[in-house]
Amino acid sequence: MGLESLIKRAAKDVAKAKKVVALTGAGISVESGIAPFRGKGGLWEKFNPEEYAHINAFRRHPEKVWSVLLKDMFEVIKNAQPNPAHLALARLEKLGKLHCVITQNVDGLHQKAGNTDVIEFHGTLAWLVCLDCGKRFKTEEYKVKEMPPRCECGGVLKPDAVFFGEPIPVEALRRSQHEARTCDVMLVIGTSAVVYPAASIPSIAKNAGATIIEINPEATPLTGVVSDYIIEGNAGEVLPKIVDEVEKLLRAQE
Ligand code: APR
Repeated sequence: MGLESLIKRAAKDVAKAKKVVALTGAGISVESGIAPFRGKGGLWEKFNPEEYAHINAFRRHPEKVWSVLLKDMFEVIKNAQPNPAHLALARLEKLGKLHCVITQNVDGLHQKAGNTDVIEFHGTLAWLVCLDCGKRFKTEEYKVKEMPPRCECGGVLKPDAVFFGEPIPVEALRRSQHEARTCDVMLVIGTSAVVYPAASIPSIAKNAGATIIEINPEATPLTGVVSDYIIEGNAGEVLPKIVDEVEKLLRAQE
C-alpha cells in the first residue's frame, strides 16, 4: 500500500474511533532540531548512557553529567519550537479525536503546541528537584550559579526527568496503562520501541483490541508484530496529512 493510501487508511481509522491515544518518542521532535537518542545522529552515539544518563552515574558525578550532557540538552530545548507533527496532534485534539498524548519526551513541545492532556512518561526538564530535600524549582526561573546546581539546603539539583535506573512516575505509569487499555486506536509516533516499560504500552493497547498505527521512517520491533501497519515517513510530513484527511471525513459526517 502506498504512502497516500496508508494516510487515508489511518484517517479513516482515527475518524471512526471512539478513543484515540498517541504514544510519542524522540522522533517526533527531530524536525524541531532535537537529536534523537538512537539511530542517525543519536545522542547515545555521542554520550554513553551508562555514564551520563544513569541515576548512579549522576549521583557519583553530578557536575560531569550537568556540564557535559544536561547543559547541551537544555540549550537545544530552550530554543526548540513545536514542528508540524506536534501541531497536527494539537489540531487532532481540537477536532475531538485525540484523547491524550503519552510522551517519552522531556522537551515539553506537545504542551507548547497546544495539547492539554500530556502524560510525561519519562518526566520533564521543565523542573529541577533537590536530591536531598525534594524541593522543586522551575528550570526557567532557576539561575545556575554553580556546577552542579544546588538547592538552598546544599543538595544537588536533578532535572525531573527519569534517568535509567529510576522508576517511572507512578501516576504516569498507571494512567498510561489505563489509557492504553481503553483506547481503540493508538498512534505510535517516532519511537524505536526498545526502552521498557514505555515500549510495552502499544502491546497493552493491542491486547485490548486497539488498532496500532506506527509512524516512523524506519521499522521497529513493533512493526509487523504489534502494529497493524506502519506509515514509513517523517512525522512532520505524515501527521498533518492524516489530520487534514480526518477533518474532511468529520465534515462529511456532519
Ligand atoms: N519522524 C518520525 N520518527 C522519526 C523521525 C521523524 N522525523 N526521525 C527519527 N524517527 C524515529 C527513528 O526511526 C527512531 O525509531 O524516531 C525513533 C527515535 O528513537 P529513539 O531515539 O530511541 O527515541 P525513543 O524511542 O523516544 O527513546 C526512548 O530512550 O534513552 C531513552 O529516555 C530516553 O525517552 C527515551 C527512550
